[in-house]
Amino acid sequence: MVTQSPVNVFLLMVFLELVALSSGEFLKHPLLQRTPRPSPSEALSQDIRRLNSLLRRPPAITSPVISGASSGTGQYFVTLHLGSPPQRLNLVADTGSDLIWAKCSACTNCSANYRRSYFLVRHSSSFRSHHCYSDACRLVPHSHDDRVCNLTRLHSSCRYEYSYSDGSVSAGFFASETATLNTSFNRVVELRNLDFGCGFQVAGPSVTGASFHGAQGVLGLGRGDISFSSQLGRHFGNKFSYCLMDYTLSPSPTSFLTIGGDENATVLPSAYVSFTPLLTNPISPTFYYISIQTISVGGERLPVSPSVWSLDEIGNGGTIIDSGTTLTFLAKPAHAQVLAAMRKRVRLPSTAVLTPGFDLCVNVTGLGRKSVMAALPKLTLRLRGGAVMVPPPRNYFIPTAEGVRCLAILAVTAEGSSSVIGNLMQQGFLFEFDRDRSRLGFSRHGCSLSL
Ligand SMILES: *[C@@H]1O[C@H](CO)[C@@H](O)[C@H](O)[C@H]1NC(C)=O
Ligand SMILES: *[C@@H]1O[C@H](CO)[C@@H](O)[C@H](O)[C@H]1NC(C)=O
Ligand SMILES: *[C@@H]1O[C@H](CO)[C@@H](O)[C@H](O)[C@H]1NC(C)=O
Ligand SMILES: *[C@@H]1O[C@H](CO)[C@@H](O)[C@H](O)[C@H]1NC(C)=O
Ligand SMILES: *[C@@H]1O[C@H](CO)[C@@H](O)[C@H](O)[C@H]1NC(C)=O
Repeated sequence: MVTQSPVNVFLLMVFLELVALSSGEFLKHPLLQRTPRPSPSEALSQDIRRLNSLLRRPPAITSPVISGASSGTGQYFVTLHLGSPPQRLNLVADTGSDLIWAKCSACTNCSANYRRSYFLVRHSSSFRSHHCYSDACRLVPHSHDDRVCNLTRLHSSCRYEYSYSDGSVSAGFFASETATLNTSFNRVVELRNLDFGCGFQVAGPSVTGASFHGAQGVLGLGRGDISFSSQLGRHFGNKFSYCLMDYTLSPSPTSFLTIGGDENATVLPSAYVSFTPLLTNPISPTFYYISIQTISVGGERLPVSPSVWSLDEIGNGGTIIDSGTTLTFLAKPAHAQVLAAMRKRVRLPSTAVLTPGFDLCVNVTGLGRKSVMAALPKLTLRLRGGAVMVPPPRNYFIPTAEGVRCLAILAVTAEGSSSVIGNLMQQGFLFEFDRDRSRLGFSRHGCSLSL
């Protein structure tokens, strides 16, 4: 358990007009809307076991996922309702980190602009900062000058300092809050004691500025104890799934992040799902690693040595699947092969000038989307366990300017870093992270069905 709090952390509220009945017809029945809502005390007397027995299968939590493209970022946002009364937050969906955090403000009478950008601590009656001596506080990293915890002082809050690989930092108080969540049965559940970071000092390129526009924080979905998937997984089931929709569509289509549910049910019939093992790296316990076996461009298998893909004994290399990284990064020798093969096979003229940051850009001026897609080489990733991922070309040739598409696969820059399957490469696939079985399921057929 993350917190020292009692195990029974559920308060259930039932929206009777949306009560989970199997018939879709019944759900739309107008009469149901006249049923009065339960009083708060009645609502509190419900518990998760009763809900489970009522439904005969465990509920899953669903949260909307939307591309941040309209606010100019390459991230996908999950909506989370935090606090009492609930405040709506857009958090970056990040399988590559653990901490859930929101930009916090202590203001009491703030402008509308402020309200949109921050979690307002003083507007919530359920905010509790953890004590620095608590078990929960040991789960978060601290800054160097903040090691002393004064046991005798009642209000020695737990301070955290969480860093990302590019040096960006979120720091503040590690706290607990009530999260209001939707279940797959159209019920609303209040989860008390969701541990999160209340960020008062936030700095660095990936958590401020243009790449963070429209986001109020990060929803860590990694393997660690404090992540959203771990905290909710303990109550609802230890797996989660999501779809990331085509970010170029406007208005942005909504899909869902789903956590938990029936442990033996997959979202889709197994004939439509491919599975590959999820591997762990003791040096980087946050990440979900998959194993690439071979890579092909235009049907031609590239001569990349297997050691290029491997995760070595000291934790270097390997490939992670990261919803919080926009582009895809491959180990240098693999990237060089992919780039050369793409150059050779793409049937479109290169642009005179490259878009900064990219290695290969093609001129698609005057061509329809269909003919562009047909002229881009097919990419095939063979994964351990026999799963084959064939992403659509729009996932790896992205529009960067009018009439220009660039290869969104770059070389890993830092020595020893892992390869990263970023969020654009994941578009249009349903991914299911089955943490108990340590396997990743994926399907091209899942997103239209996704709730
Ligand atoms: C909050 O701000 C509004 C407008 O700026 C002002 O009229 C009001 O008195 C303020 N309330 C408090 C409690 O400060
Ligand atoms: C701890 O707090 C108490 C009471 O506020 C204070 O007297 C004491 O000096 C503090 N100790 C440290 C090490 O800061
Ligand atoms: C739950 O779902 C309903 C209907 O989709 C939506 O209006 C509401 O905002 C959601 N609530 C939460 C807490 O996500
Ligand atoms: C899921 O399947 C396993 C193995 O077949 C079984 O032991 C377990 O009881 C099942 N769980 C549920 C909730 O049906
Ligand atoms: C693309 O090609 C057209 C001619 O077909 C040319 O006018 C335009 O400048 C080219 N764009 C780029 C970015 O190279």
